Amino acid sequence: MQTADDAQDTTPHEVDAPGRAMTKGEGDREVILSVKDLTVAFGSNVVLDALNLDIYRGEILGFVGPSGTGKSVLMRTVLRLLPRRAGKIEILGAEYDAVSDEERVELDTRLGVLFQHGALFSSLTVKENIQVPMREYLDLPQEIMDDLARLKIELVGLAPEAADKFPSELSGGMIKRAALARALALDPDLVFLDEPTSGLDPIGAAEFDELIARLRDTLGLTVYMVTHDLDSLFSVCDRIAVLGNKKVMVEGTIEDMLASDDDWVQSYFRGKRARSIVRDDGQKDLHHHDPNAPRRDETGRQGNPQSGRAR
Ligand SMILES: Nc1ncnc2c1ncn2[C@@H]1O[C@H](COP(=O)(O)OP(=O)(O)OP(=O)(O)O)[C@@H](O)[C@H]1O
Ligand SMILES: [Mg+2]
Repeated sequence: MQTADDAQDTTPHEVDAPGRAMTKGEGDREVILSVKDLTVAFGSNVVLDALNLDIYRGEILGFVGPSGTGKSVLMRTVLRLLPRRAGKIEILGAEYDAVSDEERVELDTRLGVLFQHGALFSSLTVKENIQVPMREYLDLPQEIMDDLARLKIELVGLAPEAADKFPSELSGGMIKRAALARALALDPDLVFLDEPTSGLDPIGAAEFDELIARLRDTLGLTVYMVTHDLDSLFSVCDRIAVLGNKKVMVEGTIEDMLASDDDWVQSYFRGKRARSIVRDDGQKDLHHHDPNAPRRDETGRQGNPQSGRAR
């Protein structure tokens, strides 16, 4: 796994490993990522304290919580970009600390990531960005890597011409898609998306949500999505986890969020800005997916299609 700063993050990714023992979770669902009693601290600042979280294969998990509570820290810790003080992390049934270096590299290749800030290398074209993890983890002829990059570009709905463009020549939405293409470069099992729709205009954000749902449906991708975007939470997330008091405080479906008596969850999911998504009878409007409607974020600000959604 690469340890780059936010502006220059590269992407961990996948190789298949048949026959690995899988952890079974609730019902018979496979737990793809299991975080147990995780504690992360910076000096005396304890950000996560004995946090537990399971993610199941094929789901889109929305991860929410007030700003500065450690959503990005959790993601970066799971990706081993930050050290942890205590706790266990199991990916695809294997415990990170217990496996050989070789196996750890292989586990890293099964994870893709789109970071909150600075998704791409600015000095590389889109195609070259997508090929960064291929170069790092695979030994493939250039021609094959070019074919693979083209496929990923198509997969995320970018025009073929985007391949040879530099990030500075792309719109915000195109950058997010290109970064997603790079996250998918090695066909990961699980992708981490940190605020993937932030800064996109409402139509772009709704299209991005649809793309994520389509990838889940067609590739069987599991998605861990940190988001402040209520529309994403209501429209594409299968399950939601709420971070608070250094732990996952509440976890469940959107219906569970609506029924929760936790104050923060109530004000977030049933507050003024959520009301146009939740019907008066307390049911969410499952068909709410009007891409032209203003989208809402945690701040309650509505997106402006002209300027993008300010935060
Ligand atoms: N590398 C670091 N060194 C020291 N402290 C850090 C580091 N990274 C994060 N923190 C601290 O950890 C806490 C959680 O930060 P984090 O970025 O995870 O918040 P977040 O929940 O992702 O917020 P946001 O919604 O604004 O993105 C903050 O207090 C932050 O200052
Ligand atoms: Mg963050």
